Amino acid sequence: MSVAIQTGETGKTVNLNVFKGTPGGEQGDHNYDVPLVEGMVVLDAVHYVQRNLDSELACRWNCKAAKCGSCSAEINGRPALMCKTRIEDLPEGPVTVRPLKAFPLIKDLVTDVSRNYEVNKEIPPFTPASDNGQPWRIDQRDMHRVYEHRKCIECFLCQDTCHVLRDHDHQKRFYGPRFFLRVASLEMHPKDVLDRRDQVRDAGGLGYCNITKCCSEVCPEHIHITDNAIIPMKERVADKHWDPLRWLGRKLTGKS
Ligand code: SF4
Ligand code: SF4
Ligand code: FES
Repeated sequence: MSVAIQTGETGKTVNLNVFKGTPGGEQGDHNYDVPLVEGMVVLDAVHYVQRNLDSELACRWNCKAAKCGSCSAEINGRPALMCKTRIEDLPEGPVTVRPLKAFPLIKDLVTDVSRNYEVNKEIPPFTPASDNGQPWRIDQRDMHRVYEHRKCIECFLCQDTCHVLRDHDHQKRFYGPRFFLRVASLEMHPKDVLDRRDQVRDAGGLGYCNITKCCSEVCPEHIHITDNAIIPMKERVADKHWDPLRWLGRKLTGKS
C-alpha cells in the first residue's frame, strides 16, 4: 500500500474514527491513523484515508474552500464543514466523523439532502413589481440585510442541528432555518411584492421554532439566522394575525 509523502508533517498522527455503512447494510465505526500535517483540516485527513488506507470510504466535497457547502458532516458530534475544521483546533484524541443525522444515509459520510431542494421549490421566487423602466432606489440598510441573507452556501448544517428536524423528524411540516432565511430574504426585500407570511407560518411550520439559536451557532457564514431572519418573520406573522388593531380593521373592512 503506497503512503504519500506530505510536506509539513509534524511526526504525530491523528486517529480518525469514521462511520461507514449503507442503509440496510453493514454499519460501523472504523479507525484510521493519519500522519498529522501542519494546518491539516478534517477533509485532508479523510482524503489521506481514501488515498492510502481505504479507497472505498465515501464522502462528498467539491471546493475545499468552505464555499460549496458539500462537505458537511458531524465532527466530534458537532455539525461542521470538513474543509473548514482544522485538526489542531480540536481537542487531543480521536476525531469522530459522522454523516449528518437529520438526513437519510446514502453511504458512509454521504447523505441525501434532496428534501431541501424540494422545500426550495415550494418558495415562490423573487417577484418585483413592474418598474416601468425606472432604476430601483434601495436604502443601503435594506441591501445590507439582503446581502447577509444571501451569503448562505447551502451546507444545511443549520438544518442538521435544528432539533425540530433532527430529533422530532418534522421534515414534512417544517421548512427549517435555511428556508426561513430564504423566505425572510424575499419577504424583507424592498422590491418583492408577495406576502409570504402565511406560507411560512402554515406550510413552513415557523411556530415550531423556539428560537434556541443552535442554527446560528453552526452557520459557517456566520449568518444571524435567528436574530435577522426567524425572529423578524415571527414578528411579521404575529403582526398580521394577532395585532388587535389589524384584527379590528379586518373585521370592519372584511379584508385579510
Ligand atoms: S432557532 Fe429555531 S430553526 Fe434555529 S435551531 Fe432553534 S428551533 Fe431550529
Ligand atoms: S444558513 Fe448557514 S448553516 Fe444554514 S445552509 Fe446557509 S450557510 Fe449553511
Ligand atoms: S468542500 Fe466545499 S465547502 Fe467544504
